[in-house]
Amino acid sequence: MLNYMSAKEAAEKWNISQRRVSILCSENRILGAMMVGNMWIIPANAEKPIDKRTIRYEKSKYISLKPFVKWVGGKGQLIGELEKHIPNDGDRALPKYAEPFVGGGALLFSLLSKNTFDEIYISDINTELVNTYQVIKNNVDELVAALVEIQDSFLPLNDENRKNYYYASREEYNQLILNKYTAVQKAALFIFLNKTCFNGLYRVNRKGQFNVPMGAYKKPTICDEDNLRNVSEALQNVTIYCGDYSKSKTFIDNATLVYLDPPYRPLTETASFTAYSVDCFDDNEQRRLAKFVDEINELGAKVILSNSDPQNVNKEDDFFQQLYSKYRIKKVEATRMINRNSDKRGKINELLIRNY
Ligand SMILES: C[S@@+](CC[C@H](N)C(=O)[O-])C[C@H]1O[C@@H](n2cnc3c(N)ncnc32)[C@H](O)[C@@H]1O
Repeated sequence: MLNYMSAKEAAEKWNISQRRVSILCSENRILGAMMVGNMWIIPANAEKPIDKRTIRYEKSKYISLKPFVKWVGGKGQLIGELEKHIPNDGDRALPKYAEPFVGGGALLFSLLSKNTFDEIYISDINTELVNTYQVIKNNVDELVAALVEIQDSFLPLNDENRKNYYYASREEYNQLILNKYTAVQKAALFIFLNKTCFNGLYRVNRKGQFNVPMGAYKKPTICDEDNLRNVSEALQNVTIYCGDYSKSKTFIDNATLVYLDPPYRPLTETASFTAYSVDCFDDNEQRRLAKFVDEINELGAKVILSNSDPQNVNKEDDFFQQLYSKYRIKKVEATRMINRNSDKRGKINELLIRNY
């Protein structure tokens, strides 16, 4: 008679988590595994399946995904530091990832390039940014066609005509937002404006209209077709949500790594830049976020959060030390790009706060 072992016994034998064993069973990857009641039983002589996540990593490791927009507060230059803190423990690595303030997704795309998570959830409060993620996921062919058309019209123009084209496109984009026009056209204009506007800013007025002036680029890449197609493929299993970060709580559990990158707490009153949307992210919002961190910490999630370090300008300012006194706080060096006073750009500290 065939002997069986429980999922717990298999997990111990194969040195993987019990949850991973259940996933392998439900994916029919263990010959002869059966559900009895609500438990899996596995033939005692079953072989440990090859980790498909490792194969996926092997297959895709040469595809390097990049953010499809420049984004204020983008974490491109902090990736190395952030990745040092991503728990990565072979088969015991966390299967779920949530990035509720995704923005341009610098860390998301770096992680997606390695493809190590089973389930991913991203969100942002910026409706037009989220529309663009969704269009890339669902309509990449139409988007590429629209961008190629824009690129072919814009690049041959002289400076004066480029300027006219940019401001006419900005006007058209604001009309599309008002009239809830088709998703693909809005996404194409969103990417075009991002690639040609001043510093890739996304700033809106009180009515929610995009009001960033044109930037100075000789040959901006408006349609990076390869990257858009690779991103589209990588987003196929990603849940994309438009709205407040707190909604991610339904996805988060003790198998989830959560990266929180909220709008910066401004270093000085004049340096404030928080207008990614009409809502602002003030100190009360930072406190609400800290409560959310406590809640997901209680759920057992691994949480990592980044923010500006107020002690760059005021050594006495211990706002985040007070707010996150329960957690580990590390200072890391970064170059701040957004400051009205350009001579204040340079190396400053950022904070990495984590519960593990
Ligand atoms: C610092 S940026 C994130 C940058 C991102 N890590 C990157 O690499 O590009 C913060 C993002 O949070 C979004 N945001 C602001 N308030 C939010 C909220 N209440 N819920 C979800 N997202 C929000 C903004 O639209 C912005 O895209």
